[in-house]
Amino acid sequence: MDIVGQAALVTGGASGLGYGTAQALIAAGAKVALIDLPGAKLDDAAASLGALACPADVSDAAAVESAIDKAAAAHGPARILVACAGIAPAARAVGRDGPMALECLQQSHFG
Ligand SMILES: NC(=O)c1ccc[n+]([C@@H]2O[C@H](COP(=O)([O-])OP(=O)(O)OC[C@H]3O[C@@H](n4cnc5c(N)ncnc54)[C@H](O)[C@@H]3O)[C@@H](O)[C@H]2O)c1
Repeated sequence: MDIVGQAALVTGGASGLGYGTAQALIAAGAKVALIDLPGAKLDDAAASLGALACPADVSDAAAVESAIDKAAAAHGPARILVACAGIAPAARAVGRDGPMALECLQQSHFG
């Protein structure tokens, strides 16, 4: 798959698996937007990678829509999505009963 010039979204891109994935996508020529919680960690990660910082809590649908709009305005429509954000246990993003509840992604959901 040729991803040179393709727009990519990486949630949780400020740390760990997301950061590493964003690094690999950029090395392969993709234009990467990091969607992560707002703050210095996201800004520093974006600056160090040469990615676009798009702050959002992934459990907040409106905030995610704004982040996607920001990424699309800079890079065009995304063709790649890698979802690494959060602290949730394993769950199907879309199962027989529809999409997983966004509340599953909130730390408070687990106490
Ligand atoms: N590291 C592993 O070996 C491993 C293995 C299997 C599954 N996982 C799962 O993959 C996910 C990422 O793991 P990691 O090791 O990269 O963790 P990490 O803590 O290094 O990175 C998670 C990132 O998600 C961001 N984040 C957390 N809650 C968010 C929210 N509500 N909205 C937006 N961003 C949010 C954090 O700010 C952080 O940058 C976790 O859910 C983890 O349970 C990790």
